[in-house]
Amino acid sequence: MTEEKKAGEVERGGISRRSFLRDAGLAAAVPAVAPIARAGEAPAPRTPAAPAGPAASEDSCDGPTMVQLTVNSGQYRCEVQPHWSLRQLLRDEIGLTSPKDWCGGLGACGSCTVILNGRPVLSCLTLACECHGAAVETAEGIANTKHPVIQAYIDYNAFQCGYCTPGFVCTAKALLDRNQNPTEADVRDALGGNLCRCATYQQHPPAVIAAAAELRRDRSRS
Ligand code: FES
Ligand code: FES
Repeated sequence: MTEEKKAGEVERGGISRRSFLRDAGLAAAVPAVAPIARAGEAPAPRTPAAPAGPAASEDSCDGPTMVQLTVNSGQYRCEVQPHWSLRQLLRDEIGLTSPKDWCGGLGACGSCTVILNGRPVLSCLTLACECHGAAVETAEGIANTKHPVIQAYIDYNAFQCGYCTPGFVCTAKALLDRNQNPTEADVRDALGGNLCRCATYQQHPPAVIAAAAELRRDRSRS
């Protein structure tokens, strides 16, 4: 299925988002890694993870750019402005609203997390113009494939308001893609960059570990 989208407006004046991201060295940032806080504890300090996603050339984002990318099962061609984030492209142009914006695009909350080329990234700090040729998974796509992590989050009540849940689900799915048998420490480490204002932290490790067990059962049956 091929869908084409045309970009909308160009931001004018002031410091562009792109310039800010570049200057801050954050264009290739991924969710920070720190253990999930236990109930009643503040989240542990974060440490940066390795960059993920396609590398941009120096000039690839100097003006409106046509990018072609796969999002879940769909192919999209979109003209993007140099300052647009991947989150903006997904939400405002493609219409996928699961990447959220709790911290105002500061890279502090993980609610905007999606999977880019197999790795969890903060879509608020990923430039859309750098995503040409990329494969993106969002929580919508993970739910559509009936991935066990979705049912596990339901079974273990791993959310209350649900605002943070798409980001957690994307980070958890990326973990399960690379680790078939994660320990509680693995889960806490992987999800450390995702914050939850409803404080559901203690529910996530058992949910992800249960999803991993279900995935292993699926593999043994096939
Ligand atoms: S909106 Fe991206 S980290 Fe908070
Ligand atoms: S479930 Fe409400 S913010 Fe996490």
